[in-house]
Amino acid sequence: MPRIPRDESFDSTLSLIRDPYRFISKRCRRYEADLFETRLLLRRTICMTGPEAAQLFYDPSRFERRGAMPKAIQKTLLGQAGVQGLDGEAHRRRKQMFMSLMTPERIEQLVLRAAEEWQICIRRWASMDQVVLYTELHELLMRAVCAWAGVPLVEQEIDARTREIAALFDHAGSVGFRHLWSRWARKRADHWMAQIIGNIRSGHAHPPEQTAAHIISWHRDSDGELLPPHVAAVELINVVRPTVAVSVYIAFVAHALHEHPELREQFASGDEGYTECFVQEVRRFYPFFPAVAARVIQTFEWNGYRFPEGRRVLLDLYGTNQDARTWERPEEFDPERFRQWDGNLFNFVPQGGGDHHIGHRCPGEWIAIELMKLATEFLTRRMSYEVPDQDLSISWSRMPPVPRSRFVIRNVTAS
Ligand code: HEM
Repeated sequence: MPRIPRDESFDSTLSLIRDPYRFISKRCRRYEADLFETRLLLRRTICMTGPEAAQLFYDPSRFERRGAMPKAIQKTLLGQAGVQGLDGEAHRRRKQMFMSLMTPERIEQLVLRAAEEWQICIRRWASMDQVVLYTELHELLMRAVCAWAGVPLVEQEIDARTREIAALFDHAGSVGFRHLWSRWARKRADHWMAQIIGNIRSGHAHPPEQTAAHIISWHRDSDGELLPPHVAAVELINVVRPTVAVSVYIAFVAHALHEHPELREQFASGDEGYTECFVQEVRRFYPFFPAVAARVIQTFEWNGYRFPEGRRVLLDLYGTNQDARTWERPEEFDPERFRQWDGNLFNFVPQGGGDHHIGHRCPGEWIAIELMKLATEFLTRRMSYEVPDQDLSISWSRMPPVPRSRFVIRNVTAS
């Protein structure tokens, strides 16, 4: 039986922190294999890349999520006891709750709310000397998603609430002070959302039935019980936080439009199909989540390699989107490639792979895509702006890796 290649260093945590997006694919190339083993935070971990590995990773009979995520991520980005750490029937039922929020009609309503916010923002941006787009998008999306999800926002608190929610994704992957701020923000956000759930359950608030706040407040798990308030809070944040995080992808939309001005012509005609290809290429080309983690349920063999029970496994998301076996010239930004893409569930995995209902694939993919399409429409046809000189390079060791300048624009006018 071939042995899984072992990384030379005793523990690779520092190398992963330094280059989280290329850590797995670089080593897989070095070992000429789709997988290798190393230690991360002293724990033996198998790292895998590519579509075949993704197909294996998303087989729920082989891997479970319980205990796979480091505590630091649970105490910031994800929260504790949410859907991400569930398995089997408990996961399927909780996941169904999220999937019920994602009907085309409901997503369209979110997009309409977001379009109103874009219009309001553009009027305000027009009077500003310069606009830091990435940061401005946080509040734009926060207002849209809270209104859509039935989460009340008090006008005087919007700024603070937005900064807390943004800290959950913008600072979670960091070390030092920024990480501590993210932990504190998690406590504040959990408390805030638990209060909202409490108000709904006690009859003091009545969000419409189709909203996330209503659905999550009254959801019953397989045991027939309502979710404990702190768990319901984590799940409601699981809707608000990642929608605000679409700001990262929208900053990349702006970045790609700036780097490839020749593409703008394609948008002038309002070709919906091209816009879809463009945003898919943004999701493929730019880094966001480096990898996802799981644990082996029971020892098994795959392609002759042994995966022992309990072993932690990481699947390389970014590297799989850049895999030259699937994507010709992966380092080039080329929306046209998506005209031929067949919708394969395992070779394009910016938000996870496999089946949305059965596995852990992100239920918010359609929201991300539609909000990015809307942003593309505004940035290409409904406003004009200048991009002054600034440092637009992408910081690869940061998670998420936004342009260093946060994408500054000026002379904004509605068109
Ligand atoms: C900003 C763009 C987004 C990115 C890059 C992203 C990425 C991801 C990734 C990588 C996963 C993990 C997949 C796995 O564990 O196998 C995930 C899961 C999840 N995402 Fe997203 N996501 C985004 C937007 C959204 C939105 C808009 C929502 C909801 C409104 C959402 C809700 C969730 C939830 C609830 C899960 C857990 C699913 C489960 O464990 O079954 N995400 N996302």
